[in-house]
Amino acid sequence: MIQSGLPRRRFLQAGLAATGALAGVGNDTPALAAPSDRGRPRMPLGCAVQRRYLGEADYRAAITSHFDMVVTEDALKWERLRPNPRDFDFADSDAIVDFAKATGLAIRGHALVFHGQVPAWLDRLETRRDAEEDMRRAIATIVGRYRGVIGSWDVVNEFTDDRPEVGSGLRPTVWERLIGPDYIAIALREAAAADPSAQLVLSDYFLEYRDRHYDDRRAVMLRVVRDLLRRGVPVHAVGIQGHLYGDRIVDRPAVTRFVADLKSLGVEVVVTELDIIDQAYPADPDRRDRLAAQQAFELLDAVTEGGGIHSCLTWGVTDKYSWTSWHRPRDDGLPTRPLALDAAYRQKPLMQVLQHFRRRTVPPDRPPVRR
Ligand code: XIL
Repeated sequence: MIQSGLPRRRFLQAGLAATGALAGVGNDTPALAAPSDRGRPRMPLGCAVQRRYLGEADYRAAITSHFDMVVTEDALKWERLRPNPRDFDFADSDAIVDFAKATGLAIRGHALVFHGQVPAWLDRLETRRDAEEDMRRAIATIVGRYRGVIGSWDVVNEFTDDRPEVGSGLRPTVWERLIGPDYIAIALREAAAADPSAQLVLSDYFLEYRDRHYDDRRAVMLRVVRDLLRRGVPVHAVGIQGHLYGDRIVDRPAVTRFVADLKSLGVEVVVTELDIIDQAYPADPDRRDRLAAQQAFELLDAVTEGGGIHSCLTWGVTDKYSWTSWHRPRDDGLPTRPLALDAAYRQKPLMQVLQHFRRRTVPPDRPPVRR
């Protein structure tokens, strides 16, 4: 088992002490990661990026100074990418990939098969053959375009049904309905054929909390992964999205067991979309930031105890541009504070937590993204 550098209680105390200090000086703290850490992270840290902000110098600087990797936030979703069944519009994803290449950042692609943000024409697919052909062509085209460049893919995103205890536990998406549960294996095999060296990830939400419902969701993921591996289908990692609600309890023992089970199958764990949904937290920004950092620590430490985090990505760069501000707003109307950099790009306690895991948890000889 891989241990983080500091015992958990001492880390929390150190974190809280530092946070107290932060409160005293405003939030304007120096970078916590020494410059010498750059270039040799143990757990690559990434962030989701939108093309429309890449023209802003402070946005770009924040990415290159705090992160090792980027992931496309909306650029590769079919609503944006596929205006009609034939054509692909790679303008946004190309811009993000070009930026990452120019600045030496690793890249993850999100997401090849995802029921969210799809074009209306997708509903007009009627037969298994049409759905399978379309899915295969899309994967071959997208992965093929970025072969050797995008090192890790969310191949199927959010396939678990909201009623995971019923039947197969799979969400009845257009692919599940027309192709059947095997669509996951077909997608993985197609992605592997298009880029044999890419890391292939199955990612989902609500894999971290305490309750029967979340046990059921973890069980579906494990069942699917075991079944795929038994059949020789390539799946390299499970993504725990990690959209952490402030009022839910991270089930540390269950997460640790889940990760250990995956590790025993040879499957890595990537935290793919970390942020803290702070609707239930008090208004005071310093208290909110401290609670958020603690909630993230609970998840990351539990994953570490289960065998280690392959890589961790936050869902956005700065509070200024987080999806939570319109998808998960606060009742009191205050701006949300889900990320590690605030709206003025100042580091928050969450950054300290992330840098702690970035430096310490994954064995140094493991390649960051590729297998
Ligand atoms: C979100 C994006 O951040 C928003 O810009 C968009 O409006 C909606 O989708 N889980 C996922 C992501 O897998 O694709 C979602 O991203 C957030 C939840």
